[in-house]
Amino acid sequence: MDRFVIQGGQRLSGEVQVGGAKNSVLPIMAAALLTDEELVIRRVPRLRDVASQVKVLQSLGARVLHDEQQGILKIRCDDEAPITAPYELMKTMRASICVLGPLLAKRKRARVSMPGGCVIGVRPIDLHLRGMEQLGAAIDVRAGYVEASTTQLRGSTLFLGSSAGSTVLGTANVVMAATLADGETVLENSAQEPEVVDLCNVLVKMGAQIDGIGSHCLRITGVKKLHGVDHAVIPDRIEAGTFAIAGAITGGDVTVRGCEPRDLLALIERLRAAAVDVTYGNDWIRVCAPRRFRSIDVTTLPHPGFPTDLQAQLMALLCLADGISMLHERIYQDRFIHVAELHRMGARIRKEGSTAIIEGVARLSGAPVMASDLRGSAALVLAGMAAEGETAVDRVYHIDRGYERIDERLRLLGAKIDRCTADVPPLSMVANSGG
Ligand code: EPU
Repeated sequence: MDRFVIQGGQRLSGEVQVGGAKNSVLPIMAAALLTDEELVIRRVPRLRDVASQVKVLQSLGARVLHDEQQGILKIRCDDEAPITAPYELMKTMRASICVLGPLLAKRKRARVSMPGGCVIGVRPIDLHLRGMEQLGAAIDVRAGYVEASTTQLRGSTLFLGSSAGSTVLGTANVVMAATLADGETVLENSAQEPEVVDLCNVLVKMGAQIDGIGSHCLRITGVKKLHGVDHAVIPDRIEAGTFAIAGAITGGDVTVRGCEPRDLLALIERLRAAAVDVTYGNDWIRVCAPRRFRSIDVTTLPHPGFPTDLQAQLMALLCLADGISMLHERIYQDRFIHVAELHRMGARIRKEGSTAIIEGVARLSGAPVMASDLRGSAALVLAGMAAEGETAVDRVYHIDRGYERIDERLRLLGAKIDRCTADVPPLSMVANSGG
């Protein structure tokens, strides 16, 4: 398995370009199941999760052309016979559950494995299933598979809420199902994340009727047929945020280009509160580090609040702040798996339920650490770049799931990070570890 070996203490500077959003492209790929015409998706990042979603779609009869160099996917789903998405593929990635809604809407039947367990906490799909039932599907969970069928989905008024707020992929699933249902669906408490907006915009281009895009209430009027489109996915706000924090934590001066700063206002505001100098324009953010970070409090919330997917990376930075910071995780019950590894590097963090209390230290020291989920791994890389001495981050296949060639891009900014390649673990060994 690959590992990163990082020599810490290098100040990052320069410019980095952001790729297409992982959490946008995965549900958009599933939307290809809603039409027998070709869906062309551009700005597709080269990620392990994209490769996994291609396999899921191929198992469902899709013909897929993937030009990885150009970042273009062409997907056509004109063979509508297959309805089973098998466990071996579904367990690698949570976003694969997004095939359920389109399959039900278009093929009227679906047999979809429950996505695997997950190290960032229990991640049920009850809201997805309840949504499908309220649209008129019969649902049975048997031997680890969701078996769903309908003669025709019917529009309905439904509320999709969890204790954490809304559900991102649940909203994506129900919206996709509702596009081909009979009549109107009103989806209250729908997620407002930019990736949900991107998906809705694709669906509208495909011929769907959706009002309220970007709000907490979506109104979808079912249509008989959707058609193929050509769409470029939005920039990855989490990747942009990770590079911005990388610039700050290394005492650097980094400009992140090709991003959408309006999707990152909560991060920008918290970085400024931590004494980081942040400026931005239409499609760039520049981050200049202060001599010392101020301690701050942060609470993760649904969009436009502070994203849970940047919590671990910001925690790495707060380990080096002056004073005590509080980090409240409100989206997941247990997304602090990186804390134990940061301890190995000299961080002082105490967990109390879903709050992490971080006492800033003057320096971190390099250590061997183990990546265990996507964003936690990114946090370890950031901490390693800021630490004194050498850090070896094991199991970086987690990070490859969501960041394209992050080591090469960090090197271009001045980081000393090497990938030591060993045998790549087979997909079957890669448990669902977030995303
Ligand atoms: N929840 C339920 N029941 C459900 C669905 C969700 O209780 O049926 C709960 C979850 O357990 C969680 C909360 O609701 O506590 C929010 O989960 P949500 O459904 O919004 O998460 P998701 O859609 O499964 C997406 C991203 C995650 C990101 C979350 C929150 C993708 C592929 N994944 O997951 O991204 O953390 O939204 O913003 O879009 C990542 O990229 O590292 C990642 C984990």
